[in-house]
Amino acid sequence: MTNLDTIDFAKYDKSGMIAQIKSFTQDFRKAWELTKSISLPSEYKKIQNVVLLGMGGSGAANEAIRELAYSNACPIECVHDYDLPGYVNENTLVIASSYSGNTEETIRGFSEAKKRNAKLIAITTGGEIKRLAEEYDVPRFIFDYPSEPRMATPYLLSPLLRIFAQLDLYELPENFDKVCDEAEPIIRQFYPEELINKNIAKQLALNLYKKFPIIYSSPYTKGLAMRFKNQINENAKKTAAYDYFPELNHNTIEGYVNADCDLVIVGFQSKFGLDRIQLREKITAEILNRNNVQFERISFNEPTNPLVEHLVLMSFSDAVSFYLSILNQTDPTSIPNIKYLKSQL
Ligand code: F6R
Repeated sequence: MTNLDTIDFAKYDKSGMIAQIKSFTQDFRKAWELTKSISLPSEYKKIQNVVLLGMGGSGAANEAIRELAYSNACPIECVHDYDLPGYVNENTLVIASSYSGNTEETIRGFSEAKKRNAKLIAITTGGEIKRLAEEYDVPRFIFDYPSEPRMATPYLLSPLLRIFAQLDLYELPENFDKVCDEAEPIIRQFYPEELINKNIAKQLALNLYKKFPIIYSSPYTKGLAMRFKNQINENAKKTAAYDYFPELNHNTIEGYVNADCDLVIVGFQSKFGLDRIQLREKITAEILNRNNVQFERISFNEPTNPLVEHLVLMSFSDAVSFYLSILNQTDPTSIPNIKYLKSQL
């Protein structure tokens, strides 16, 4: 098997994704600075609900802010689809996020939201979403960051944090630089320079190689588990799935009795979750062990708030999926099936 400590990543990583993985918090700092330009009309504060439109990598950033702002009284829904929920009207804030600006589901939702007189915001690098935002003359965050959408999370999530903070839908923990300062030393432990015996991202990638990972999340990290699964699919070109507590305790755990393939369950836990969820996870791990299914718990004790934890878990997923792509001897950037499908629509 490929040695992750000695291999020259450039052999497979043709576009240099590893540099993006290493600049994750730096990119967040830069993106955060740029979002200072976002200024929203005062009537945007009167909205009654929020709908976030976005697919794939763009949709994953939407899920993150929805989870971070979960305790807010304002209902927030993420739509990964063509159609808007029936309740969308002039009291709804609809934010369309699309890295390319050319994703047809997002374009359709955005145009439909305009017809319903919703308050609109666009986050994109260009394409049709930029054109529509200009035509509708609505607030927009247009950024320039050459990347695959799934690796542009700093530029997709930062404007959402800024918008939500401006609308009092989310309280930022102190200042953003402190968040990055706190996340950085934890994230550095996943870098390639850190050897396997000390690098839990490399260790997990080696563990998942040729196996079927299922990521289990706590209730407020579902979006992170979904993003982790997506990164494994797209970067490593590998099957993966996700599931979440407590629901999985009411169905999934019976499936281990006749597990069909070599599974590894990855417990992707928030330290800010309920004690009852931790207990459920402990008992689930016992059941898995009895059924000879491997369980790996991933949790970080250091983060002092959920935003730091989100950055750490995102960066961890990026690193693990990157190392898996190298083990699979595949270019992490290329996504031929997604490109083919889009070209055939
Ligand atoms: C590709 C990727 C995809 C895209 C998705 C939507 O790197 O992550 O999941 O994010 O196909 O495209 P955008 O983000 O351009 O709207």
